[in-house]
Amino acid sequence: MKVLGISFGTKNGTNDSLCIEALMGAQEAGAEIEFIQMSKLNIQHCTGCCTCSKTLLSGKGNMCILKDDFEWLLDKMLDADGIIICDPIFEEGASGLFHTITDRFGPRMDRGNNIIGQKIAAATGGKMSDPRIIQDRVISYMGIGGSDWGTRVQCEHAMQALTPMWKVIDNKWFPWAKSVIMDDTRLAEVHQVGVNIAAAAKDVNAAEYQGEAGFCPHCHNKLFYLDAAHNQATCAQCGIVGKIVFENGKMTFKFAEEELQKAHDTLPGKFIHGNDIKNRIEGEFAKVAKTPEFKARKKQYKDFIKAVNPKKKVTA
Ligand SMILES: Cc1cc2nc3c(=O)[nH]c(=O)nc-3n(C[C@H](O)[C@H](O)[C@H](O)COP(=O)(O)O)c2cc1C
Repeated sequence: MKVLGISFGTKNGTNDSLCIEALMGAQEAGAEIEFIQMSKLNIQHCTGCCTCSKTLLSGKGNMCILKDDFEWLLDKMLDADGIIICDPIFEEGASGLFHTITDRFGPRMDRGNNIIGQKIAAATGGKMSDPRIIQDRVISYMGIGGSDWGTRVQCEHAMQALTPMWKVIDNKWFPWAKSVIMDDTRLAEVHQVGVNIAAAAKDVNAAEYQGEAGFCPHCHNKLFYLDAAHNQATCAQCGIVGKIVFENGKMTFKFAEEELQKAHDTLPGKFIHGNDIKNRIEGEFAKVAKTPEFKARKKQYKDFIKAVNPKKKVTA
């Protein structure tokens, strides 16, 4: 059973140390371990071309057009039974590099898209996406902060697991963590993350979330989109819509049972979302994009101004 630790911090920084501490725990619990420093990889941003999902959903596999170290990283992740991610908190949330990895997972690693893509490939004799993408896998996140600003980090980390529907085992936020390796209590917590992921990776089907309950009873998230005009609250992670209510002095999130069918981290929810995109956006957009009026408006913007090229000197 393999556990992979990935640090998004600076070389030999706090994130590296904490990732290794958790890997020590995983090894003690019987895991074969491997460690990756993201600072050593060449990872480019997702350009939004959607080639990956277009090829996937036409049964032609799901390769990305960017040529960098992402394929190598993905192979390492798919080869592991359990993953530990240590990520520095930037602007209260995940680091930019972590967001890039989440984007590169994007529609390409979505479990619903891969199930559909593989069926299409099987029916048409096309190219299968990597079968490991739709295997169950467990992952834990640690958001490492230099201060106590970090209210978005757990939600942003869990979004990465939501795409392939990997099971989150621990999702922690460590504020004021620059000297955390001198704090034995918090270090034990980090170590336990490694022990927990190894135990979870041994039996992924039986594995369960080990973290705090959070506020959303479905996905444990604490971050919400509050729409006062409609007296409505939406879980910023699983997308369930409901209301915040106060009962016996306690604040809770209430929603209708059928909302669970639409949750973004469930297969029915993913299929609903996929169909919405296909019908409402791609369907309508494909029609309107062919009209002369649409083409004229696009041309108007294109002709109005040319983008400045950073490599050329700009003169007035
Ligand atoms: C651009 C930037 C933004 C940061 N924003 C936050 C923040 O909002 N909250 C916080 O707790 N720490 C913040 N930090 C501190 C980093 O989280 C901290 O330096 C990092 O975890 C150190 O990790 P390393 O030693 O592994 O590189 C920020 C650091 C940088 C460089």
